[in-house]
Amino acid sequence: MKGIILAGGLGTRLYPLTKITNKHLLPVYNRPMIHWPILSLVEAGVRDIMIVTGGNFAGAFLQLLGNGKEFGLKDIHYTYQEGEGGIAQALSLTENFVDRDKCVVILGDNVLEKSIKPSVDQFRRQEKGARILLREVPDPERFGVAELDAKGNIVGIVEKPKEPKSNYAVTGVYMYDEMVWDVVKTLKPSGRGELEITDVNNAYLKAGTLQHSIMDGWWTDAGQFESLLRANNLVAEREERESFASFLPKDTAAKK
Ligand code: G1P
Repeated sequence: MKGIILAGGLGTRLYPLTKITNKHLLPVYNRPMIHWPILSLVEAGVRDIMIVTGGNFAGAFLQLLGNGKEFGLKDIHYTYQEGEGGIAQALSLTENFVDRDKCVVILGDNVLEKSIKPSVDQFRRQEKGARILLREVPDPERFGVAELDAKGNIVGIVEKPKEPKSNYAVTGVYMYDEMVWDVVKTLKPSGRGELEITDVNNAYLKAGTLQHSIMDGWWTDAGQFESLLRANNLVAEREERESFASFLPKDTAAKK
């Protein structure tokens, strides 16, 4: 299983915080934002990780993370997204790295309260297809939203619907088999000029191989002022209870 963290984009929704740095390097309580998705992957047992970055400050990722020693990794792989082509375009840059393996993808600005290991393990056992994680939210119109039938099966996903069919947001954690590389090659830019991850998920739905889990615990993005503040407060409260990084052999990155 390969792990992919998508940390490109220009972070314009957080300007001027992102004028002189990349969004994913901004603080979320006691760590740079990018640490949280790395910890989520490592805790789930994923150790082959590639970070897709972009913009003017890509070199800072190497300075911050190096080979990932503090996460117990042997190395970290990096690639570079030019411009703002969207999540699915960023993912397409990792094809050679993932090759015929399965991958778990996390958006670099998503922060999760709890372990994703149970869902990743389910996907390890899943013969083929994709698995996404859903979470009920009060403001679904900000996200990709899943429509569910009476049995709880997904019947469609709409990106930022004006009139959401449910409160279930598609979180920024996605798991794919090798079919994803064929799917991304068929995508066309959306209204916002991006290759949408929602179109990838709908292609798996059409193929009858999209599975989902309901995410346990809180989840937030940190890509806008309100959600960045929320992420800081939620992580602060969690870290005061118990450090998420306590599974690491030695927590050298963040000291109280
Ligand atoms: C993206 C996805 C959306 C998903 C969200 C999760 O939105 O397009 O489907 O629900 O991430 O954070 P964006 O951050 O590009 O607006």
